[in-house]
Amino acid sequence: MLADKKILFGVSGSIAVYKAAEWVRELAKAGADVTVVMTEAATRFVSPLTFATLSGRRVYTGMFEPDSGEEVTHINLAKKCDLFLVAPATAQTIAKLANGFADNLLTSLALANRAKMLIFPAMNSNMYCHGATRANLARLKDYGYGIIEPDEGKLACGDEGVGRLVDWETARDALLSAFAPQDLLEKTVIITAGPTCEPFDPARHLSNRSSGKMGFALARSAKQRGARVILISGPTSLKKPSGVEVINSATALEMHDAVMDNYDRADIVVMSAAVSDYRPAKLKEKKVKKGSGSIALELVPNPDILKELGKRKGKAGSPLLVGFAAESSDHLEEGKRKLKEKKLDLIVVNDIIGTETGFASDTNQVSLIDRDYQLEKSPLLTKEECAYLIWDKIARLMQ
Ligand code: CTP
Repeated sequence: MLADKKILFGVSGSIAVYKAAEWVRELAKAGADVTVVMTEAATRFVSPLTFATLSGRRVYTGMFEPDSGEEVTHINLAKKCDLFLVAPATAQTIAKLANGFADNLLTSLALANRAKMLIFPAMNSNMYCHGATRANLARLKDYGYGIIEPDEGKLACGDEGVGRLVDWETARDALLSAFAPQDLLEKTVIITAGPTCEPFDPARHLSNRSSGKMGFALARSAKQRGARVILISGPTSLKKPSGVEVINSATALEMHDAVMDNYDRADIVVMSAAVSDYRPAKLKEKKVKKGSGSIALELVPNPDILKELGKRKGKAGSPLLVGFAAESSDHLEEGKRKLKEKKLDLIVVNDIIGTETGFASDTNQVSLIDRDYQLEKSPLLTKEECAYLIWDKIARLMQ
């Protein structure tokens, strides 16, 4: 999704410059066209050669470099980019940008730039919390710059606090948000993800193989498209997406309650969780001991969350409903049946048997069937690309 994007990457002088080098590598790997501009202070931390090697392009460091005579570098570089980011952005560079200084190539480019601008501050926490820096950042926000607040933690100077450059995952989310259509702005979406676990004694539970990857990808991409996201997640090992409200639920009953508690706030509900249809009738107080013969476990049905939401449909303000059908046979027939039975606006059908479309895989191939039974089949995509395709469809259905 970052392929062929022209990114101007400003680097100012902080110890976090080495992290920016890794970001350049990731961007180049994603197919972006990255041009790095470094301040003189930044070159003291990491050599321009490192950035030139990682980006595969010439690195710009000065306004008056000998071979830049044929063109006005700061105007031309700024004209060509789709996005301009500064990482790490030091207190000094932020102050210059806020006050319209153009005393080096990076700050001159910022003034000449008309593309979206993202600032990733990194500095000592006292410097970051100082009124001057806060005021400068507020001014940059007024100019329309995106400010990605730094993380808290141990800083290079030994202090503990806010000021660490965010990790690549957070930076990538910010970049994707800058390029994503903002078609979910002002919308609240509930997304369920992962498996549910139904305990039957203190040591054991019944569950399924859902990894939560598809639901988490949906949550991240909805956030990138401007939505307020409530992610209701069964147990997974995945990292919480930034800027998303996460509610953890272990059992189907807990997930049911979490969905119902938040239902009134939602414009869209996407049930991508693999909810257990049954739970053990009794939760044993003590661990079940091994015997010599077989044992039977009595199961009782769980509520069908999506079906319950479908029944409420039609009342004013009821949200758009999206279900998933993870199937091993008769995929489209099963998908259509569930679409109708649960009164959905859209169902996403996928195959759980294929190695590239199954639970834990990073890729998926989906068939989307909408409320008018229109069918759209995707090629094999990453789960993130699949999530984008699903939101494209939902955005059209919302219109
Ligand atoms: N679902 C739900 N509550 C349940 C079971 C399923 O909300 N108790 C939702 C799932 O999150 C999914 C959709 O219903 O969005 C279809 O789930 P799936 O397991 O494929 O279908 P079921 O209706 O459970 O039917 P079956 O398991 O027999 O295929």
